[in-house]
Amino acid sequence: PKDEESIPNATVECHHEESSGQETKLNKYAEIVSTEFNSIVIEHHLKWGPLCHTLPGPINESTPSTRLGRYDFAHCDAMVDWALSKGMKVKGHVLCWHVTTPEYVEKLSGDQVREELKRHIFTTMGHFRGRIKMWDVVNESLAPDGSLAENIFYRKMGPSYIEECFRWAHEADPTAFLIYNDNKVEGMNGPNKEKADGFYNLLKGLVNKSVPIHGAGMQAHFNAGGTNDRQRVPTPLQVKNQIKRIGELGLKVNISEMDVRISKLDASAEVKTLAQNQIYHDIIAAALTEQAFDGIWLWGFTDRHTWVKSFYYDDSPLIFDENYERKPSYFAVRDAL
Ligand code: XIL
Repeated sequence: PKDEESIPNATVECHHEESSGQETKLNKYAEIVSTEFNSIVIEHHLKWGPLCHTLPGPINESTPSTRLGRYDFAHCDAMVDWALSKGMKVKGHVLCWHVTTPEYVEKLSGDQVREELKRHIFTTMGHFRGRIKMWDVVNESLAPDGSLAENIFYRKMGPSYIEECFRWAHEADPTAFLIYNDNKVEGMNGPNKEKADGFYNLLKGLVNKSVPIHGAGMQAHFNAGGTNDRQRVPTPLQVKNQIKRIGELGLKVNISEMDVRISKLDASAEVKTLAQNQIYHDIIAAALTEQAFDGIWLWGFTDRHTWVKSFYYDDSPLIFDENYERKPSYFAVRDAL
């Protein structure tokens, strides 16, 4: 939420109310984004696949790059330029993520993937240079045990793909703030300990190799009803200590995609609300005590538009309700800032 004490980057992603009859809802959406937050991150459309549409026709290891994909920046230009017109910052999400690559990438040789990924980074960062000054460069490279997951980039390019992406991103825009982003890494010596340690060790390795990396994003997709080690929410102290040790590497740390699911918590509606408020408040308040902490992005702001409903189940994980009214969790976040 924007106020004189607000931290530099409290933001949401952008959504469009699809049906025409929702004009007032769209205006309400835009009004809240531009008055309550000071930055946006685009939830889906700035990823490689949505930006670069695979061209029709056969694709194999000899197909020239000009026959692979066609970039269409119009949709993202509109959102980025709208945010900038409101005096907001824009975080670019995300240049390299195995989940949303264009279909053609799977058909390419390792050398071609390397060439295409480099081309994508230069094309995209070049297009937005001067407008988007911070980027999630690589997303979710870690397996639950903290090792590097053998995703398409690992398989095609080897483990060096991560540092290659950061070096290309720095070359594409030497002024850009470059971030590595991941999930279930938020607490030191807490739930998902192996992955959280893997996150720290990955960052430490990049810093020790003088890779141009400036920040780390911890997604914070929390489930208040989580009971096993993979699902439990880390304590505020565990989050504080994770930020602290990453800060000691010389990196900034942000919470990049926060939302707090409550529907699986076996409790009354009142207790669910209190649990959601406490997680938002206490985690953010603890993070703010660390010098390295430089911002928080929510993954959406209204329960009307949350990825949780399409990816998980019906839930109310955010800080505005379905009718764009402030929830108690809004005030919990505001009290923490
Ligand atoms: C999700 C979006 O919310 C969905 O709309 C999209 O279809 C898939 O991606 N971690 C990430 C985000 O880094 O990019 C993902 O966003 C959610 C998990």
